[in-house]
Amino acid sequence: MELEERRSGCPLYHCKASGAFAFATSCIILFLNCSWLLSTSPPHQPDLLSLAATTSRAVDHVDPNAPTDDVHPSSIGNCDLSQGEWVADTGPLLYTSNTCRFINQSRQNCVQNGRPDSGYLHWRWKPFECELPPFNPTFFLDLMRGKKLALIGDSLARNHLESLLCTLAQVEDPISVSLDFDRFNDFMWHFPSHNFTFRNFWSPFLVNYTKENDLFKLFLNIPDVAWAEQLAEYDIAVVSTGYWYFRKILFHVDDTVLGANPEAGLNVTTMEAPAAIRIALANVLKHMIQGYKGIIMLRTVTVDHFDSGNWMNGGSCKRSKPFSHQDGGIPRVPWMSREICKVQIEEYQKAMAYAKDISKLKLLNVTYSAFLRPDGHPGPYRMIR
Ligand SMILES: *[C@@H]1O[C@H](CO)[C@@H](O)[C@H](O)[C@H]1NC(C)=O
Ligand SMILES: *[C@@H]1O[C@H](CO)[C@@H](O)[C@H](O)[C@H]1NC(C)=O
Ligand SMILES: *[C@@H]1O[C@H](CO)[C@@H](O)[C@H](O)[C@H]1NC(C)=O
Ligand SMILES: *[C@@H]1O[C@H](CO)[C@@H](O)[C@H](O)[C@H]1NC(C)=O
Ligand SMILES: *[C@@H]1O[C@H](CO)[C@@H](O)[C@H](O)[C@H]1NC(C)=O
Repeated sequence: MELEERRSGCPLYHCKASGAFAFATSCIILFLNCSWLLSTSPPHQPDLLSLAATTSRAVDHVDPNAPTDDVHPSSIGNCDLSQGEWVADTGPLLYTSNTCRFINQSRQNCVQNGRPDSGYLHWRWKPFECELPPFNPTFFLDLMRGKKLALIGDSLARNHLESLLCTLAQVEDPISVSLDFDRFNDFMWHFPSHNFTFRNFWSPFLVNYTKENDLFKLFLNIPDVAWAEQLAEYDIAVVSTGYWYFRKILFHVDDTVLGANPEAGLNVTTMEAPAAIRIALANVLKHMIQGYKGIIMLRTVTVDHFDSGNWMNGGSCKRSKPFSHQDGGIPRVPWMSREICKVQIEEYQKAMAYAKDISKLKLLNVTYSAFLRPDGHPGPYRMIR
């Protein structure tokens, strides 16, 4: 079972009726791909970011009068997307739980499971320094024509895959081409008329592991065989990890035991999650940089939210709005999330220092934007049947 399901109050899933979080993430993915293409385009080529902002939309319920004219692509190129705020957005929704068939109905459909409020649907990410153009699924699919995109990670990576599927399916209905149904949570989709393949690799730690009863043995120096052998087929790989490092784990490098996390309750050296994530990421990035020709994108950790306790002692999360300065103020990002984000960014920067082609290594720093959305979880409105 997944960590999220063990928790009682506020799982990490983003409420799947909400396009908002995925919307931001997808926009950022779109943006980064665009900026990569821009940097390799001759100057007379059309400005792809302008296209992203202005291409006429195939989706009939997206408002063609949405204000996109004042988007200045050149300013977005230098804009720090990780810093910003969620602003109210009255525009049309890209999708809801009721319009997207890719949302697992019994598990994550918070609308169907009775969530009474809907305000969480109407927010958009506003970086402080620029405006993000609305996500345009037609443009995204055109950009991905003939390409293969992999999301590698845990259930949050799968959530992001589902959210992006929900938006892209409005342009073209994908067909499922999942090959190995025995593997937990591995999904693959193909968009035939764009020849675009999109899949997730279930790899909650990113590194190789075995499991005995409820104790995981991680091999921090070995990239997970679940994705490492197939990576070469993909043009873009988005990697992420985080919360599975809080299960009961004994950490190894080859045959040497480095220690165990406190959750394991073993009488060996204690090794906390951030230290283990650091070693795992260093090895995973090194492996990818040395052997992989595609674009690598490291997505930083997202944040869970509990009031009055944590997941195991009655914490809950019943918020219906993002944190904002106007509305009660913004608390501090929890220490552990900050620490993991810091480790991820440091390892990304170390990898940038030795990567031969730094244009192929991207950082998707979503920790702060995710932190600001305590309303973005299904909370108690999941798996209720
Ligand atoms: C939805 O989630 C339930 C519960 O985890 C699972 O049994 C079911 O197979 C899932 N359905 C799909 C279509 O993934
Ligand atoms: C579809 O894309 C793949 C690469 O992802 C390529 O190998 C193949 O030739 C393409 N097929 C067509 C019909 O263009
Ligand atoms: C990784 O784990 C798989 C089994 O899950 C095993 O077959 C493989 O040998 C391991 N890789 C290494 C390098 O140890
Ligand atoms: C933990 O291990 C040490 C050294 O092996 C041993 O001396 C100690 O008694 C152990 N403690 C417990 C609680 O088992
Ligand atoms: C990532 O986001 C965090 C939280 O907003 C911020 O403190 C940090 O400076 C960002 N780092 C980078 C490299 O973007």
